[in-house]
Amino acid sequence: MKTSEIRQKFLNYFESKGHALVDSSSLVPHGDPTLMFTNAGMVQFKHTFLGNETRAYSTATTSQKCVRAGGKHNDLENVGHTARHHTFFEMLGNFSFGDYFKKEAIAYAWEFLTVELGLDKDRLFVTVFEDDDEAYDLWTKGIGISEDKIARIGAKDNFWSMGDTGPCGPCSEIFFDHGADVWGGPPGTPDEEGDRFVEIWNLVFMQYDRDAEGTLNPLPKPSVDTGMGLERVAAVMQGTHDNYSTDLFQNLIEAACAVTGVKQGAGKESDVSLRVLADHLRSVSFLLADGVLPSNEGRGFVLRRILRRACRHGRLLGMHEAFIYKLVPALVAEMGSHFVELVEAQGNIEQVVRIEEERFIKTLDKGLKLVEQAVMDAGKGGTIPGKTLFTLYDTFGFPTDLTADILKGRDVALDMAGFEVCMEEQRNRARAAWGGSGESALPKAVFELRETHGATEFLGYNTLLAEGVITGLIQGENAVEVLNEGDEAWLVANQTPFYAESGGQAGDTGLITVADATFEVTDTKKVLSDLFVHIGKVTKGSFHIGGSAHFAVTGLRRDAIRRNHTATHLMHSVLREVLGDHVKQAGSLVNAERLRFDFSHHQPVSDAEKADIEARVNAAVWANDAVETKLMTQDEAVASGAMALFGEKYGDEVRVVSAGFSTELCGGTHVSRTGDIGLFRISSETGIAAGVRRIEALTGQAAYQSYVVDADTLNVIANQMKVRTFEAVDGLTTLQGKLKEADKALQSLKAKASTGMLDDLIGTAIDVNGIKLLTAVVNDVADMRDFMDKAKGKLKSGIIVFGQVKGEKVQLVAGVTSDLLKQFHAGNIVREVAMLCGGKGGGKPELAMAGGTEPAKLKAALASVSETLT
Ligand code: ALA
Repeated sequence: MKTSEIRQKFLNYFESKGHALVDSSSLVPHGDPTLMFTNAGMVQFKHTFLGNETRAYSTATTSQKCVRAGGKHNDLENVGHTARHHTFFEMLGNFSFGDYFKKEAIAYAWEFLTVELGLDKDRLFVTVFEDDDEAYDLWTKGIGISEDKIARIGAKDNFWSMGDTGPCGPCSEIFFDHGADVWGGPPGTPDEEGDRFVEIWNLVFMQYDRDAEGTLNPLPKPSVDTGMGLERVAAVMQGTHDNYSTDLFQNLIEAACAVTGVKQGAGKESDVSLRVLADHLRSVSFLLADGVLPSNEGRGFVLRRILRRACRHGRLLGMHEAFIYKLVPALVAEMGSHFVELVEAQGNIEQVVRIEEERFIKTLDKGLKLVEQAVMDAGKGGTIPGKTLFTLYDTFGFPTDLTADILKGRDVALDMAGFEVCMEEQRNRARAAWGGSGESALPKAVFELRETHGATEFLGYNTLLAEGVITGLIQGENAVEVLNEGDEAWLVANQTPFYAESGGQAGDTGLITVADATFEVTDTKKVLSDLFVHIGKVTKGSFHIGGSAHFAVTGLRRDAIRRNHTATHLMHSVLREVLGDHVKQAGSLVNAERLRFDFSHHQPVSDAEKADIEARVNAAVWANDAVETKLMTQDEAVASGAMALFGEKYGDEVRVVSAGFSTELCGGTHVSRTGDIGLFRISSETGIAAGVRRIEALTGQAAYQSYVVDADTLNVIANQMKVRTFEAVDGLTTLQGKLKEADKALQSLKAKASTGMLDDLIGTAIDVNGIKLLTAVVNDVADMRDFMDKAKGKLKSGIIVFGQVKGEKVQLVAGVTSDLLKQFHAGNIVREVAMLCGGKGGGKPELAMAGGTEPAKLKAALASVSETLT
């Protein structure tokens, strides 16, 4: 039976027994920060067992991806040298969350093994926890297993815990007897480590939650967690006791033979190397598929170590060039139909593996030479100095466990203490470099935190929810142990799904919770390049250093940010198409409300260009292309035509984001498909400096809202004009025409009216010492000068003063007919009048204008003119 068939049979069996079929969870345990990697099927159900989380089902079955390399369970060193150790393996499991318990768990396991797989009952051997009489009776009396095939074992092997804390309980293990020709004894005997009796299935009767003090608190409901190693069962079903002889591994090993030209069985050493390659290919590929990237810390460093160990075994097989990446298709063919993430990430996996291989190969030979030299220098029974180990690590990229692996079986010791001293010195140098990088203003506590706990691992490309261990609490300048309600602080954790502000993208907001305590995150920033600080306030309860907490990013806000970020990339490309290649990014800001993009361009973007840009970006949105992230070296990224982001710092490998026609280097977060952007609309275009333009734009709901506001305005206009919206423009043109005509008519009416008024006014002129004097308030006259000219014409000879009130102001005009110019000066006359109503003025002898500020005094002021003349 092929490995894939066994997996399917298992899942089908438990589904037929009413279990929910649940996908394997990620190798990065988002729900458990105490674990480096998912190392058992129950990891994704931890909170369900504890009663903190309810699911839609009470029983489940999975085939869980597991990695046991680094962290508590570490099988790395054994891989290749034994028949059943792996860095990556699959754990088949069935789970009951307070549904069934021991009886059913035992019955299911027995039926599956003996009926479904048809295993010989006599070759099965079981163990129970020493005090568990119930399980003992269920096996002996219930199943009928004979007393010589069951053993009671102590807590070391038969009390299973996921870690130092968390769900745990007594367990019952099932072993397969590979037969007398394989060395080994049954469990509990001195020869139990041999390969004859192999544990294939562990049934854990989850009953307790172990707390930090070691106390066992009963779980809300007794539950079941089981784990069966798929690779081991495959070996049993395929009549071998060696996992590497099963179909799946043989196919991978054959692929390695084809690429390296080495044959299986050619030698003990080369067989080990082939096995290492087959195993490491799996862990490396699956880790990459789950978003882990090679780095010098944490999970990424484990990944890098596994890959470098594989490279070194490739070297032992005579490979001088990158080749492991060529094995990825064989793995995808073998496992991709069940684990689709492998198919989706295939290109990326090949790419990163190749880059890592190429980089390491450059120093591998020199490093190996140095190792040999060091062995010679040390002599038999000698010690390799810490400084050499450090040079190997720092200059040649040899992690110490790789050096140890190379020296396995050679009679030399490693000065690990000396190595640590060198590492400490390097950290000091790094600290000095930080001091000079402009971040020296940061509290000292931040530097100490970075040194003690290392970089924060960012999980937010793959998830918005995760658990993290609180590694630092900083209030003002100081590191504190506890935060209480009302405290404002920086909270730092070993890992987080919160994106920290960088590359123009705003930091995430959200909630960090522990039991019923809440910390509201108002912003997330990055300090010392890779330490994430959650900035916020405790709104309830208290937070302690060292505890785990639940991190939840505000998803709707992040979605809006994603839309704006991907839209920025699309617009950047479109700007170059529409305006020309001279367009270069000069700054960008992406937050939940909008996107802002500054770029070099020497004139305003016209309305037609704006419409064109919008149309092209929207066309790309509606094309709904997948947005893909690839990892490349800087050089490759540039060669592929990717546009680099302004002012962004990059490590060796860069993320290259492709969305439709756009390809950019970018560390930000993006939508999955361009269609997720929904809608794109430019909201403003301005100049911000010589040769630099700024476009602000909206996407998704915000873009829609802006159209709604405009549509509402148009509706109001149309309603008031009593036309339909599409008639509003015609209506407006008609209205403007009518207004013009009405204005014209009004002007001519006014002219007529003023002529009539003038006739009446002339009759009011009085005689002052033989001089005709006309004064009047003429509020409706538009053109006072013109009116004065006409008045002079009609009066023929005399002096005229008109006043007019305009709001708070007074306007005056005085005129003297030409025959009287020798005696009178209009300027003097108007000045006197103006003075009387709070103003001043002057002008020519025949015509003068003035202003005043006291309308109430106008009449009296005009009346005073006759006195002036006498
Ligand atoms: N969780 C149990 C184990 O890993 C089944 O062995």
